[in-house]
Amino acid sequence: MTDRKLKKADFDEIYTRPDPRSYYDRLGELDYSVPGHGQRVFRKVLDALDVDEPTVVDLCCSYGVNAALLKCDLTLDHLYDHYCDERLARLASDELAEEDRDFYQSRRLKDAPRVIGVDTSAPAVEYAMTVGLLDGGAVENLEHDDPSPELAAVVDEADLITVTGGIGYITDRTIDRLLDCTSADRRPWFAALCLRTVDFTPVADSLARHGLVTEQLEGATFPQRRFADESERDFALRALAEQGVDPAGKEEAGEYHVNVFLSRPGEDVAAAPIDSVLDGVIPSADSG
Ligand SMILES: C[S@@+](CC[C@H](N)C(=O)[O-])C[C@H]1O[C@@H](n2cnc3c(N)ncnc32)[C@H](O)[C@@H]1O
Repeated sequence: MTDRKLKKADFDEIYTRPDPRSYYDRLGELDYSVPGHGQRVFRKVLDALDVDEPTVVDLCCSYGVNAALLKCDLTLDHLYDHYCDERLARLASDELAEEDRDFYQSRRLKDAPRVIGVDTSAPAVEYAMTVGLLDGGAVENLEHDDPSPELAAVVDEADLITVTGGIGYITDRTIDRLLDCTSADRRPWFAALCLRTVDFTPVADSLARHGLVTEQLEGATFPQRRFADESERDFALRALAEQGVDPAGKEEAGEYHVNVFLSRPGEDVAAAPIDSVLDGVIPSADSG
């Protein structure tokens, strides 16, 4: 096998269907679990933020999985079960959207945050808005363009920016453009679950240029999903070797793993370090 063939598996087509069934189906087969870990992390972060009606901007939001897990009394397993239901498999996308609107509304938490999603996939953002998971959505590519005035205004109001499964698709270019919309006296917090194969340093540097101090949750990583095939495993091990990261017991055992990063103004970090904010999220992670 040549180096050229080593790459992360390409699931692009499951992010642009009219509804999320292929997304849950394909990723479920690979035990995709990072949004479930994100749910525990982001809920703790929102507790620590202690804002009455927080606004969350979820980057690479896709069909709104993080919004569902923040706004509803649901787990990722509930979502997999829901979208595996044979009755739902027979519905047209618009019929499914109607069912999903009721489903998510019936599980909605009283203190659900306001969630705005950003993604390049118009069908995914549209679906998440139609079923009530997103309170606003931006189909924009900040790798290439500045945010629209509408997105800039929302980001300026954000309390928390979140991302799972997205760093790599988006880089420090997106983060620079987003944080340029915020003001020095009111920076949002930024919480990311980032693959260990992707160097987070450029993103942390961008956050630092905007006054946010990044801490990494030490002593734990979380599995993202199983590798799709041997080629992807080889790609991941190569990427880790290049960064000097030890894959033993983690990627070597067949799964991508993520690190957890939390970026905040220095005074917030001094008042409560990441360990205290995320107290309790580690036990179900693979420690080490
Ligand atoms: C691996 S999925 C992650 C989805 C979701 N956050 C999750 O945890 O399952 C990556 C998402 O990033 C989106 N994406 C790719 N490039 C992007 C970009 N430049 N800006 C915003 N979204 C992008 C894709 O459309 C896709 O929905």
